[in-house]
Parts: sequence; C-alpha cells; structure tokens
Amino acid sequence: MKVISGPASKDLGERVSALTGFGNVPVSFKVFPDGESYVRLEGSVQDQNVAIVQTTSPPQQDGRLIQLALIADAAKRGGASKVSAIVPYLAYARQDKMFLAGEGISIETVARMLKASGIDELITVNIHSESALQKFPFPARTLSAIPLLAEYFVEKGFKGAFALAPDKGAMHIAKQAQEVLAGNAGHLDKQRDRYTGQTKQTAEGLNVSGQSVIIFDDIISTGGTIVGAARILREQGAKHVFCACVHGLLIGDAEKRILDTGVEEIVSTDSVPSTSSKVSLAPLLSEELKAQE
Ligand code: R5P
Repeated sequence: MKVISGPASKDLGERVSALTGFGNVPVSFKVFPDGESYVRLEGSVQDQNVAIVQTTSPPQQDGRLIQLALIADAAKRGGASKVSAIVPYLAYARQDKMFLAGEGISIETVARMLKASGIDELITVNIHSESALQKFPFPARTLSAIPLLAEYFVEKGFKGAFALAPDKGAMHIAKQAQEVLAGNAGHLDKQRDRYTGQTKQTAEGLNVSGQSVIIFDDIISTGGTIVGAARILREQGAKHVFCACVHGLLIGDAEKRILDTGVEEIVSTDSVPSTSSKVSLAPLLSEELKAQE
C-alpha cells in the first residue's frame, strides 16, 4: 500500500506513512490565480492499493473535497488497483436527510461525486450520524477517536473523571470515554429549533457538584453547545471542567467563548489541525490500514 498525503492533511498523512511503513507519495499542489486547484502525484502508484489522507474541514471544505476527487482521479489514471479515501472530517455529513421540504441530501451528492472520481472505499472518523454512511455507493465506515481523547485525560491525571455528553445523541460517545476513564457518565438534553438553529440545554437528573467533568462531543463548531453545557456544569459546582472533541472546527471566536466559561482546556484531534489538536489520529488510522493489508 502507498499513502498519499493530501494538502489538507499533509502532516497526518506523513505520520501515517511513518507508522505503517507504507511509502508516502508526495503530491504537488497549487492553486491557480483563478482559485482552481491543481494536483500531480510525484511517484508511481501503478498496481498499488493507495490510501489518500485528506480532511475536508472548514473553511475550505468545498475546495478540499475537489482536491480529494482530483487526487483520486490521478491515482486511478496512474494505475492504482484500489483507492481508499481516508477523510478524518467528512464535510456535509450532517445533512444526511431532508429535514425541511425543498432541501437536498448533501452527503449523498458528495458520495456520488467521490464515486465518480474513482474512490473505492471511504474511512472516516466519528461521523456525526452513521446513517450517512449508507448514502455511499461503495464501502464506507467510521472509526472512533474517543478512546484516544479519553486516554489523554488519564495521562493528565484525570482517571475517574465524569464523561458528559452535551446531548442524548452523544451518549454513546460519553460511554466510550467512560470505558477508558472508569468514572461515571451522563448527558444533558438539547433541543434545537430547525428554523433558527437556536438550542436550549437542560440537565435533568444530573449532579456533578465537586466532580471533574470532561464534556465529549464529535464536533465543536461555533462552540454554542459546549458554552451552554459548561455554564450548567459551573452552576452545579463542578470542580474542573474540560472539553474534548474529535473535530475542532472552532469557528470564529469559539475557542475564546468556551474558555471564557471557565473550561480549563479544549482538546481535539488533528482531524482539523489547530492549537487544540493535542491528540493525533495517526495511530488509529495506521492500525486500520495495516489490518486491511
Ligand atoms: C450536534 O449534535 C453535534 O454533535 C455538535 O454538538 C454540534 O455540531 C456542535 O455545534 P456547535 O459547536 O455550533 O454548538
């Protein structure tokens, strides 16, 4: 197998190549003056299985998706036997159904586009809803980085901390963290207005007074969910509050707003590289790729 490190995940791809021992095929990448992307593989992929590592995070999710498709096309034209797309953050995965009349199903459109570019398989990480994977016309699966995030806190000395999901839908995430932290787990409740996007959080039956609490979520986008959760935890008298997510999009001043609530640290993965990316996905992705070779 060969690893192709896409421009959006160059460091992560190179780490995967180093950990697996699979050769890295460099990509020459540039953006034309009119904004269009150009890619060229700088090594042979003839008769090889290839894994393209390319996240599709904001603010360039559209461009990054196109770059992924261009690399896949180049790999197939270069004679690759099988093209796997390793897409840590999969853009458009949250629009996996028609929530309102007149909408499309964005992830299905993306899936068809990736198929047309020559991709044979997709591996992503903590996709928001696993039902989105069913929209792909080729094998697609998701891995979980939550145990790696929880291990970060164990190493920091917080074994036994309370794993909190900011809404009921994220409880499976909190349970995965709980298995590593060996403490308690629970969730808040969150209601979202489909038209305004406004959310309201409540904490029925939850009491974390005096406890160290880590809020685990798949994505932090605007930070609104974590800010609301952290305020509730502070009101209840939590001793320490941290937050961890797989995909730290951290749009605008999200990081500042979260830290202003008294959250002591924001920890995310290199799915979306930022100053909070303190946990690498490289070991998780490497194990997966080695297992399938
Ligand atoms: C939604 O259910 C997700 O799991 C996240 O909680 C959400 O995407 C976070 O968004 P924001 O940071 O804008 O509140």
